Amino acid sequence: MSLKFISAEEAASFIHDGDSIGFSGFTAAGTPKKVSEALAKKAEQEHAAGTPFKVNIFTGASTSDHLDGVLARANAINRRTPYQSHKDSRSGINSHDISYFDLHLSHIAQNLRYGFYGKIDIAIIEAADVTPDGEIVLGTGVGIAPTVCQMADRIIIELNHFLPKGIRGFHDIYQPADPPYRREIPIYKPSDRIGSITLKVDPKKIIGVVETNVEDGVSAFTPVDETTMKIGNNVSEFLSSQLKAGLIPSEFLPIQSGVGNIANAVLGCLGANPHIPAFEMYTEVIQDAVIGLMEQGRCKFASGCSLTVSTPVIEKIFSNIDFFRDKIVLRPGEITNNPEVARRMGLITINTALEADIYGNVNSTHVVGTKMMNGIGGSGDFTRNGYMSIFTTPSIAKGGKISSIVPMVSHVDHSEHSVDVIITELGVADLRGKSPIQRAKLIIENCVHPSYHDLLNQYLAMASKGHTPHNLRTCFAFHNEFVKSGDMSKVNWEEYK
Ligand code: COA
Repeated sequence: MSLKFISAEEAASFIHDGDSIGFSGFTAAGTPKKVSEALAKKAEQEHAAGTPFKVNIFTGASTSDHLDGVLARANAINRRTPYQSHKDSRSGINSHDISYFDLHLSHIAQNLRYGFYGKIDIAIIEAADVTPDGEIVLGTGVGIAPTVCQMADRIIIELNHFLPKGIRGFHDIYQPADPPYRREIPIYKPSDRIGSITLKVDPKKIIGVVETNVEDGVSAFTPVDETTMKIGNNVSEFLSSQLKAGLIPSEFLPIQSGVGNIANAVLGCLGANPHIPAFEMYTEVIQDAVIGLMEQGRCKFASGCSLTVSTPVIEKIFSNIDFFRDKIVLRPGEITNNPEVARRMGLITINTALEADIYGNVNSTHVVGTKMMNGIGGSGDFTRNGYMSIFTTPSIAKGGKISSIVPMVSHVDHSEHSVDVIITELGVADLRGKSPIQRAKLIIENCVHPSYHDLLNQYLAMASKGHTPHNLRTCFAFHNEFVKSGDMSKVNWEEYK
């Protein structure tokens, strides 16, 4: 059987209104780029002709402008899960043009296979290489590629010539059996390989190969500023003190680190701390800082779902690919984020909160309780199952008009039962073994910005007594004040008396 090369427009012509599409990739990394752009154009033409055209989009995580961006602007997305971070899809979600449901990333592949979200009509997969007998070398991100290729009737390959053939050997493709036949996932340390380096699909399903030559285009991280540097230092000093106290084994434990600028800065600080041994990572997204730490010998190995690194860094990896091949493994999201593996290996998990409350509940997703930011991503997979879960956040946002520590979170993603430690640029609140009132005092004392200290202490004083003191009439006063005046610090408790 030979491969049929087609244009992106021809590929898009196979996709119909109401279809469910599964994409490879995780973040911008490994996300297909050209068929989705042609699909957006097709949707615009259909809309101009007065014909409805929307598709359901299933991915491993967020994507990029090539996918969420173009399709959201074309109003071509009906159902969307499990995670996104594009401003245009965010706005489509908050205006209800897109029916988004936010999901733990470890759940998406298995929930698709269980049939919870219906069938997958077509899979679109970015590849570095593909053979006529259906052997695919994936790109820089894996996500749900194995599952959607298994489920879909038809597969379109985007063969991206930007990816070097030497990326072969980075992947470890493994799909667990479904209950009641599932067995343990035999990963005991981050570098264990349990699957195959290629994804094998039924070649009869491949209806066409679209050739591209496009980089992932991950934007560079903003330089570390004073606040992120202080947060990073607080995390690394806290972990080195835990190590010294014997509360982390002397060999250290694998690190999981969230996405974004704070996470990147935290990793840099961990690497720079001489009291923290060279470490391994069992994480979701491998970011720029990890690659620098590998070159310095500070990060020994990273298992992840994607190489979400900026263009200069991916070029560095590609030009020195043999150095990195035995230090990096890319796996499906249901394996990188698997609760069983996270618990067994004892991950130290570090994720970012939008806001936390004085008892340690965390909101990672909803701005002022209603507007979706990105989604829960993998933070729940790791937080609930790691050895020790840490949340970082700057103590204030929007120049001080928002306190990241509030009386009661306006949406709960991670409950007080899963959150061990909260760290801001001001300090650390280690919540383990503390009663709610002890936690509240510790968080206010160590993590809250001075401009919100008194307000939160006063809230505590006016709260009804009980195991977890609250004043149900005023617990959202910070949020209401922000909606009313745009500044939480203007809360005046007198008005509530
Ligand atoms: N209320 C309203 N807005 C807030 C806020 C709050 N309490 N706290 C922060 N923000 C705003 C910031 O001002 C900033 O706005 P801007 O983009 O207009 O400048 C934005 O939220 C992002 O904040 P920032 O401090 O830059 O953090 P970040 O880029 O690290 O993102 C999360 C923080 C929580 C949005 C991000 O980490 C996330 O989506 N997490 C959930 C998924 C996850 O944890 N994945 C990793 C698992 S492996």
